Amino acid sequence: MATLRGDVGGLELENPVMLAAGILGTTGASLRRAALAGAGAVVTKSIGIEPRDGHPGPGIVHLGVGLLNAMGLPNPSYREFQEEIDIGRTGGSPVVASIFGSSPEEFVEVAGGLDADAFELNLSCPHAQGYGAEIGCHPGDVEEITRAVVREKSVPVWVKLTPNVADIVALGLSAERGGATAVVAINTIKAMAIDVESGYPILGNRVGGLSGPAIKPVAVRCVYDLHSALSIPVIGVGGISCWQDAVEMIMAGASGVQVGSALSGGLDILKSISNGISRYLDRKGMALADLSGLAGRQR
Ligand code: SIN
Repeated sequence: MATLRGDVGGLELENPVMLAAGILGTTGASLRRAALAGAGAVVTKSIGIEPRDGHPGPGIVHLGVGLLNAMGLPNPSYREFQEEIDIGRTGGSPVVASIFGSSPEEFVEVAGGLDADAFELNLSCPHAQGYGAEIGCHPGDVEEITRAVVREKSVPVWVKLTPNVADIVALGLSAERGGATAVVAINTIKAMAIDVESGYPILGNRVGGLSGPAIKPVAVRCVYDLHSALSIPVIGVGGISCWQDAVEMIMAGASGVQVGSALSGGLDILKSISNGISRYLDRKGMALADLSGLAGRQR
């Protein structure tokens, strides 16, 4: 079968199919399980300075088109998380620490306090006051925070971007100017659902982020636009639930993909996606590098 080994965002991976942030990334045991199930790399739940309980529940609702969540960045603080990363690493795949903060100083403190194979800056959570997209929708802040973390760490720094803006490319270019190794697109789309019997919003936080199949075309478009404009790699995430989705994202310009909501059907999806990509490459007589950005080269 065609090899999928290669560089993704500054990490040498066995395959480009990764566990996305926020799904199964809260404990070392679950990171390890995802790695052993075939993830080329695993991304942790987003970690911040202080312990947070997150938003009041319900925090997740299954809609026909995907998942709506507003967990509210619950985490035990970076001071309590290194052991989970170390356990996660025993799965044999690189562990990427997803981190958040409200300022460059907070991002630097969290990154400085963790030893991980790479960092993913969450500048895109659509429903946490003072964090995520509230900062990450400002190109100047994206650049400044990225630069501060890049100065602090000698491992790859990825920036996860929000699609909840008119111009995601402006954010990607800011991350690139700040020295990011790669950008990750996209985080969830700001959304809500209302219970029609009671009239109440279903999520405890009222507003959350939509993931799953409904957002895949949006993610594909964002990856395509970013790949066309940036010199650094783009990692695609958003609604990938089968190998065809992954191939499409790679054709849009992704050099790797992350899988999130689809894992609610079990971890086997990780291997099924990477095996599917390999078989596709064999059938087409192509290498992975030929596939990346193919859609932008077609006339
Ligand atoms: C959450 O913890 O609420 C989700 C994080 C995110 O959307 O980035």
